[in-house]
Amino acid sequence: MIKIKKFSNKESLFKELVNYYVKRINENPNIKLGLATGSSPIPLYKGLIEEYENKKVSFKNVLTFNLDEYVGLEKENDQSYYYFMFNNLFNHVDINKNNVNIPSGNVSDLNKECDRYNKLLSNNKIDIQLLGIGANGHIGFNEPGTEFETRTHIVDLDSQTIKDNSRFFESIDLVPKKAITMGISDIVNADKVILIATGKNKAEAIKKLAESDKFDINFPASSLYDHKNFTVYADEDACSLIKI
Ligand code: F6R
Repeated sequence: MIKIKKFSNKESLFKELVNYYVKRINENPNIKLGLATGSSPIPLYKGLIEEYENKKVSFKNVLTFNLDEYVGLEKENDQSYYYFMFNNLFNHVDINKNNVNIPSGNVSDLNKECDRYNKLLSNNKIDIQLLGIGANGHIGFNEPGTEFETRTHIVDLDSQTIKDNSRFFESIDLVPKKAITMGISDIVNADKVILIATGKNKAEAIKKLAESDKFDINFPASSLYDHKNFTVYADEDACSLIKI
């Protein structure tokens, strides 16, 4: 059974989640965090910055590993996930930039970059992997059709994902068509996995996830159905199609 924590509003959800992260980082200052981009984790990052400013937590020895990055965007591009992470978290806390790991989608040899990231992940078991979920059930950029055994790889983005992400770009034609992403087996390898789902547009995906009792290749998030330490943090809107 997938564990879903339902919150009556986003404020209470993120208050609990921020407290959880602060506690875990204080228990283990060298913690290895798998991080995500997108709208879902932004309030968590805001809350963590506040706690850092209030001297409740330090990121000095924390190591981070991001899930994914678009192919072909320079780091400085304000739509790159590199830019997102520095803008929304890293520039505002005391993290050592050498401890930040984000796959690069802007190198001449993408296969080599996949190998580099896979080696890194093989040498660093992630303590807590954070996820959002796509309307089509993607996790990271593992789109429907992705095999369970995948490691970091290059993907063609699904038309639904391109459409969803076009809200951040001036036009849909500017949305990159490819990305580099941790694979499903990299994600499920984490000791703990936390998935954030807020808003009505996630309700269908959360219903499908709640009903998952085996891996369905057409719904990548179902790969977590038997993870021993997987929790969904969802608000009422995201839970509007399920009974809990
Ligand atoms: C982001 C990522 C994606 C997003 C997902 C949900 O690093 O890997 O899987 O988590 O697309 O995006 P939002 O949170 O913008 O709805």
